[in-house]
Amino acid sequence: METIIGGQELVEQAGKIIKEGGLVAFPTETVYGLGADAFNAEAVKSTFVAKGRPQDNPLIVHIADVKYITKVAKNVPEVAYKLMEKFSPGPLTIVLDKVDNLPLTTTGGLQTVGVRIPNHPLALALIRASGCAISAPSANTSGRISPTEASHVYEDMQGKIPMVLEGGKTSVGIESTVLDLTHDIPTVLRPGGITVAMLSEVLDTVVDHKGEVIIAQAPGMKYKHYAPVCKCCGAKSPKGAEQEYNKFLSANTGKKAVIIGSTAFVSSIKQCNVVDMGANATECMSQLFSALRQAEKDYDYIILQWFEDNSDNFAINNRIHKSTAGFAVE
Ligand code: TXA
Ligand code: MG
Repeated sequence: METIIGGQELVEQAGKIIKEGGLVAFPTETVYGLGADAFNAEAVKSTFVAKGRPQDNPLIVHIADVKYITKVAKNVPEVAYKLMEKFSPGPLTIVLDKVDNLPLTTTGGLQTVGVRIPNHPLALALIRASGCAISAPSANTSGRISPTEASHVYEDMQGKIPMVLEGGKTSVGIESTVLDLTHDIPTVLRPGGITVAMLSEVLDTVVDHKGEVIIAQAPGMKYKHYAPVCKCCGAKSPKGAEQEYNKFLSANTGKKAVIIGSTAFVSSIKQCNVVDMGANATECMSQLFSALRQAEKDYDYIILQWFEDNSDNFAINNRIHKSTAGFAVE
């Protein structure tokens, strides 16, 4: 098969190829994709063949406008529209429940579908010219580096597909962020062009690709896990905790603070609200989350003992680190 390469002038022809069940590689802002009609199972199957890709790896479905989202996904939550409004067209793929008539071949056997609106004029023109939702993995041979230039695609796909649309070097250069919205908390499955910090501008809570819960807080953003809803910091000594406590009270009239720590830590502190979590790391660990939950209801500022760094305290310090976004006074 001869593989034609060209730009804008080939878009109508490229659209026709897709509509008729063929494959066209095209530029997006992330990497080049290998496009097929997402609703044509045979066409999609040939994508897997051209790439040498395992068939259980789902493809992203590309649409040209958010108004087409319900053509490919159902039960679309409000937050999906908010995300799309902010980040689309752009390097964000959101995973939603798939519509019944979208072939399982496209979704790698899953009942969900990854959808995105690419931010590249040729990609959008191709989708429009084809009149299809276009499934597209990166246009490389499976296992090879994703293509950011048409020549990379040509290297891998020459003779295997009828057309490569040439749209210059891709601007983002890495693949889209894949965000799963089918569970209670939006979860990043693949980090990419849209960072977790950017997502937190729209989402209150998001789980990053390492499984950490990120909670956005105004002003600005803090990277937190197990994070209380109120302001929280660590303190390495009772004296430091007391100073931080008094500093907070004098700057915030009418607000309340608390110091939470082990018996030894809090017993040396005078005239402050304290919570004693127990005599040792094990006791404190068992109390930490309930103490935080109670304290966030009762107080405006939580100062948490930062335990001495040793192997006994590693686990509790890890949680405290996450609760306080790593912020601690001496
Ligand atoms: O930037 C990109 O996303 C590029 C351009 C062409 O849009 N596409 C791309 O596709 O990187 P691909 O096939 O190389 O990677 C798609 C990723 C895979 O990690 C796949 O597992 C995940 O998205 N994915 C797609 N649909 C999914 C679904 N329904 N559930 C979970 N993960 C999904
Ligand atoms: Mg890929």
